[in-house]
Amino acid sequence: MQIRKSTESECKEILNIHNQAFGEKKGQVISKLVEDLLNDKSAMPILSLVALENERIIGHILYTKVTITQTELAISAQILAPLAILPEEQKKGIGEKLINEGIRQLKELGTELVFVLGHPSYYPRCGFFPAGEKGFEAPYPIPEEHAAAWMVQSLNGDALETANGKVQCSNILNEPQHWRE
Ligand SMILES: CC(C)(COP(=O)(O)OP(=O)(O)OC[C@H]1O[C@@H](n2cnc3c(N)ncnc32)[C@H](O)[C@@H]1OP(=O)(O)O)[C@@H](O)C(=O)NCCC(=O)NCCS
Repeated sequence: MQIRKSTESECKEILNIHNQAFGEKKGQVISKLVEDLLNDKSAMPILSLVALENERIIGHILYTKVTITQTELAISAQILAPLAILPEEQKKGIGEKLINEGIRQLKELGTELVFVLGHPSYYPRCGFFPAGEKGFEAPYPIPEEHAAAWMVQSLNGDALETANGKVQCSNILNEPQHWRE
């Protein structure tokens, strides 16, 4: 299995991964989100990685830029969204490898914080923990019962300990429908 940055010509294949992984209805919404994010200037810089087996794309992960508002500090931050592995390739550790490779590359680039809104039993194994407790608000309020789904991890510096604020995503990801159940 190989992991590398995606190329522009792979867009269709990538959208297909999300369609299949998320299932019929949600798959359409998520693949549209990915397509729009790949063209969203306010999401730049992005990190788009694919996992390949025998030159076939079997997984995709996207990290896009976020801004931390309500703070004086300029914090370099990204958000992981979305991640998808072809159904028949799931539970083989590919998701975890894509997350970790993305984090490794972002760390090298000097990114300080990475956020994710996702399953609280999955992402902590890759170093994420609740962001609300650290004073970082999501773009829209997360209901109390789902608070643990809003997570962060620190890659560089001490922003997690010294700062707090509200996360604002790219124009596309900041649309409220992406923050509802
Ligand atoms: C979630 C997903 C990306 C995980 O990728 P993967 O390659 O299958 O995951 P890994 O092999 O690294 O890890 C598998 C583990 O994650 C768990 N897991 C998978 N999906 C999960 C979910 N939605 N919530 C919690 N845990 C989950 C599995 O039960 C398994 O646990 P185990 O190791 O204790 O058996 C993949 O299942 C997928 O594409 N799902 C559909 C799309 C989706 O929900 N994306 C995430 C939201 S952005």
